[in-house]
Amino acid sequence: MEQQDIDNLRLLMEFEAARSEPPRGFPKLPDLPAGRYADQRFYDLEKQHIWRKTWLFVGHIDQVPEPGSFMLWDNTGEPLVVVHDDDGMINTFYNTCRHRGAPVVTEPEGKKIRLTCIYHGWTYDLKGNLVSVRDPEDFHDIDLSCRGLKPVRTEMLGNLIFINFDESAQSLWEWLGPVADELAEFQFENCRLIGRQAFDIQCNWKIAMEANTEVYHIKGIHPLTVAPMIDDRRNVNSFYRNGHGRMVAPNKIVIDEREDDRTLFPNIETVGEIGRTCTQSYGIFPNWVSPLSHRALPPLLFWPTSINTTRFEVWTFCRDWGGGPMPEAYKNMWTSPDDTELSEVLQEDTTFGPWIQRSMESSGFQGVPLSYQEARIYHWNQWADRLIGIDDIPEELRVAQVIGDEWLAPNEPRLDQIGSNIAAS
Ligand code: FES
Ligand SMILES: [Fe+2]
Repeated sequence: MEQQDIDNLRLLMEFEAARSEPPRGFPKLPDLPAGRYADQRFYDLEKQHIWRKTWLFVGHIDQVPEPGSFMLWDNTGEPLVVVHDDDGMINTFYNTCRHRGAPVVTEPEGKKIRLTCIYHGWTYDLKGNLVSVRDPEDFHDIDLSCRGLKPVRTEMLGNLIFINFDESAQSLWEWLGPVADELAEFQFENCRLIGRQAFDIQCNWKIAMEANTEVYHIKGIHPLTVAPMIDDRRNVNSFYRNGHGRMVAPNKIVIDEREDDRTLFPNIETVGEIGRTCTQSYGIFPNWVSPLSHRALPPLLFWPTSINTTRFEVWTFCRDWGGGPMPEAYKNMWTSPDDTELSEVLQEDTTFGPWIQRSMESSGFQGVPLSYQEARIYHWNQWADRLIGIDDIPEELRVAQVIGDEWLAPNEPRLDQIGSNIAAS
């Protein structure tokens, strides 16, 4: 991060702490319709658009480390296989044999030279080309070249694998926009996988995610865990094109003095002052939330398994420890020591999910009034509607587009207000 950006963030933190109302010109946020969490029509629209048109985080290259390594993936409900090919590229295919639809791979992960469908023996190479069929003389003019595995677009952010079902989507880099540049200091190209666990939560995936998208809840549900660590009144939210967001709040206790696992991981030297002294968390649309620091890169991912259930994936990466096996002391920072439960902080964050879901489904609750501190949630919803197509959403389920583009980074109207406050004093 440039020094100018750091200086601006420090100014903005003081601005946030000193203000007695939302910033000038920041819109009042209309209530979010409860149906966005409980109406099957909205869930179906999400399925059709959000999960089909955006870049989705699939995994880390350590899961498919060598040519021939593969893993199954089905977090959007479609059967996929991710494959490391002989040229070092990561490819994703539907795990669907082009003959009669049997899986070409049945093990959750492993290593193969070729992908051979067991049903009738059709064989594909690691780039998905159909290279042989059994008894070809029994087919009339079968053209192997048009019967390869159907690919899904796959792009990398350093060592992280993302896919997009939309063949005409912009590149991952363009999709991330300025966020990609800001993430560079965290060296995703040098990160290793520490751990990945998944837990089921009984609520809509957005309810689970939103618990990690604002600091307004910290004093309420994290009085002894997060609240003593973070200066929430100095939190600065930023909004990016495509629905991405960022929060930056100064730490009351710096990370290197905390008694948690992050102090064990190698230092990422390129991370600047903000990453070292603040809690900095990015929301990458649609379902990635991650605090990032010079010690740990631990994304949380939220996947709908139905309208009111969520698969909650908790990941931890750190900078490469320099080869050899992973040091024994390293472990996922989001789980209990035996990895069977969520960490205390995440148990707090998920406490109310099932209760809130029941509220959203009841006739006692119609809409969610969001404060300025929770505006990233509204921003996400605005972009969700743009992606779905505003006119395709039933009127009672839409959100109004009230946060104008003048609030999108790199614009920063709050800095202009600080300038005019100084000029006026
Ligand atoms: S379904 Fe795969 S070879 Fe027949
Ligand atoms: Fe929280």
